[in-house]
Amino acid sequence: MVYQVYLRSFQDSTGNGVGDLEGLRSRLGYLSEVLGVDAVWVSPFYPSPMDDFGYDVADYTAVDPLFGSLEDFDAVVAEAHRRSMAIIVDWVPNHTSSRHPWFQASRSSRSSPKRDWYVWAEATPDGGPPNNWLSVFGGPAWEWDDATGQYYLHSFLPSQPDLNWRNPEVRSAMLETVRFWLDRGVDGIRIDVADYLMKDPALRSNPAAGPAADMFKSRGAYDRFDHIHDKAHPDVHGVFREFRRILESYDGHRVCIGEIHEWDPERWALYFGTNNDELHMPFNFSLLYTPWDVGEVRHRVDSFTADLPEGAWPNHVLGNHDEARLASRFGTERVRAAAMLLLTLRGTPTLYYGDELGMTDVPIPPGEEQDPWGLRVPGLGRDGARTPMPWTDSAGSGFTRPGVKPWLPVGEGVAPVDEQLSDSRSVLGLYRSLLALRRARPALHSGDMRFVDAGRRGVLAYERLAGEDRILVALNFGTEPATLQAAPGAELLLSSHGRTHLRPGPDGSFELAGDEGLVIDLSR
Ligand code: GLC
Repeated sequence: MVYQVYLRSFQDSTGNGVGDLEGLRSRLGYLSEVLGVDAVWVSPFYPSPMDDFGYDVADYTAVDPLFGSLEDFDAVVAEAHRRSMAIIVDWVPNHTSSRHPWFQASRSSRSSPKRDWYVWAEATPDGGPPNNWLSVFGGPAWEWDDATGQYYLHSFLPSQPDLNWRNPEVRSAMLETVRFWLDRGVDGIRIDVADYLMKDPALRSNPAAGPAADMFKSRGAYDRFDHIHDKAHPDVHGVFREFRRILESYDGHRVCIGEIHEWDPERWALYFGTNNDELHMPFNFSLLYTPWDVGEVRHRVDSFTADLPEGAWPNHVLGNHDEARLASRFGTERVRAAAMLLLTLRGTPTLYYGDELGMTDVPIPPGEEQDPWGLRVPGLGRDGARTPMPWTDSAGSGFTRPGVKPWLPVGEGVAPVDEQLSDSRSVLGLYRSLLALRRARPALHSGDMRFVDAGRRGVLAYERLAGEDRILVALNFGTEPATLQAAPGAELLLSSHGRTHLRPGPDGSFELAGDEGLVIDLSR
């Protein structure tokens, strides 16, 4: 299981209201002993003007003083390894900060040796941008540079200029930065907007989007186009193959995860590489915005696990720092069944910090919004899902020192970690039980999976199988009780509602409460 730490919001050790590396180190015991996670993915901690909270990198091989020092980072890695956990760092190759010395050199003149390190283009005859590409964060993707009389490309903020990955010097300089972290002992790399690296070399305009509804969340004007030219050019596969070869030249198992926004399962599966020689784990975001409906979820799981190349392993994501909280998307009453889904499907789950508490989106008071996306496109802000982790009920919530104002408000919607820890029926208690079961049962962590007919509409049921180990998972998507036909001899392992005394009827049937999920042992 991969646990995502949004560093700014996990644990502040200095009392400035912002989480940091030493704070993370001090909480590794929670991740290893309380939850038992295998790998921790840490959001960017590199020197940055923080226009996009670290996704605008000004130096790829250093630590921003806000988060600590390289020594602090090494201490995180050492402590994680001592606890047998892997550390995955976030790598932001599509764009740098406009303050990065490379961009400073690039924009200094048309003849700068670094000019071609970024994507510069001439204006159209009427002075407009070279094509119709839009920034994900609103407005055109092109910024006019008066000094040198050309436009530069920024798929995100104007202060996040896109690197030109077609330039071999860029490619080798960036891959060098990966080696820097691998040499320091990191176990994996999460590649930010991995599918954006290569664009159409002719910079052709995108066609208008067809009527086919994008299943993903609405992104305003950006959705008016079919993004076939400003991202996802097939040349990116060569980069990923090279990337994989670099990882494999290191000892141990180093993993590459890619942020891939691709809703077509066949096109998504291509990122594993046709010979399974590219990304180990192109993030599968398909369930993020799937309606909470048995048929839809089943269809999505099927289509994103069916056609993987030989040897590829599925994965599932239900939350991250870019999306509304799971509890706010699906509803708090579904948080438990969603936890069971995430942790019992076949494939690696990624858990976003705080989802194990049932955290909801926190309303941000007017004028305190931080996220540049929300500031540029009202309604699309991500702050609500990035609020500090509540550890205790005391002043500062155990996140920061008493009296210090955290960078975003701490939500009041959920009980903090210490309270949930003392209640095995809490959401955290459920996550702990699920994670323990997942570790203990081969069927759950590495077995095959097949959907079964639960005999009742509104119940999603599937079996996990590994040799003799056989487990049935049943999730009631409805609010009314439902009967599940298991098998004679079946035994309850876990109820999402904490019901411990549930017994099957003589015919092996179980009564599920509304919104309840059950994990049932079929091995005997
Ligand atoms: C990715 C990150 C997001 C960031 C964007 C631009 O989508 O997850 O947080 O804003 O890339 O780097």
